[in-house]
Amino acid sequence: MTDQARPPEAEIPGKPTAASRTTLSHIMTHNDTNLLGTVHGGVIMKLVDDAAGAVAGRHSGGPAVTASMDEMVFLEPVRVGDLVHVKAQVNWTGRTSMEVGVRVLAERWNESTPAQQVGSAYLVFAAVDADGKPRTVPEVVPESERDKRRYQEAQIRRTHRLARRRAIKDLRDRRAAEGIED
Ligand SMILES: CC(C)(COP(=O)(O)OP(=O)(O)OC[C@H]1O[C@@H](n2cnc3c(N)ncnc32)[C@H](O)[C@@H]1OP(=O)(O)O)[C@@H](O)C(=O)NCCC(=O)NCCS
Repeated sequence: MTDQARPPEAEIPGKPTAASRTTLSHIMTHNDTNLLGTVHGGVIMKLVDDAAGAVAGRHSGGPAVTASMDEMVFLEPVRVGDLVHVKAQVNWTGRTSMEVGVRVLAERWNESTPAQQVGSAYLVFAAVDADGKPRTVPEVVPESERDKRRYQEAQIRRTHRLARRRAIKDLRDRRAAEGIED
C-alpha cells in the first residue's frame, strides 16, 4: 500500500491481544539435539522467532521482521520426544514496532505431568511495507489483568532498551570525538 492509500494512524482500529495470540507445537526429534543429547537452544530460539513472527504478522496485518530478541531464558532442558508448545502474544505496540512475549512449555513424552515451562523470551518486531520500510501498526488493546500487566512490563523494557542504546551511542560518539580508534 502506498503512503497516500494508507489510512492515517488514528484511523487504524486497535486490536485485542487475544486476536493474534498463537501457539505453535512441535515434537522434538534426534535432529534437534546438541552434543549432550538434549535439544539445542538454537532450535528452541527458531521456534520462538517463528511463533513471535506469526503473531506479529497477524497483529499488524502484513509482514513483520525481527528487530531484536532479548531475555531469552532456558529454565529446563528439553528432550527428544517432548512435545513443545510455544505460546506467543503481542504485549505492547509502539508506532511501527511490537513487543511479542513468548513462553515455551514442554510436555514430557515419558511423564503424565502437566506441561512445564522451559523457557521465555521477548522479541521486538517491526512491521514493514513492500520496500522493507517500517509501517504503522494497530494499537494492541490488553483486556485481561494479566495482559495489562504484560503491557506495563513491556513499556518498562522498552524504556530500558532505548536508554541503553542511547547511552552506548553517546559513549561511542564521545570516544570517536576524542579520536580514539578501536
Ligand atoms: C527493524 C528495521 C525495520 C528498523 O528499521 P529502521 O530504519 O531502523 O526504522 P526505525 O528506527 O524507525 O525503527 C522502527 C521501529 O523499530 C524499533 N526498533 C528498531 N530497532 C530496534 C531494536 N534494535 N530493538 C528494539 N526496537 C527496535 C524502533 O524503536 C521503531 O519502533 P516504533 O516505531 O514503535 O517507535 C530494520 O533495522 C531492519 O530491517 N532490520 C532487519 C530485520 C531483519 O531482517 N530481521 C530478520 C533477521 S535475519
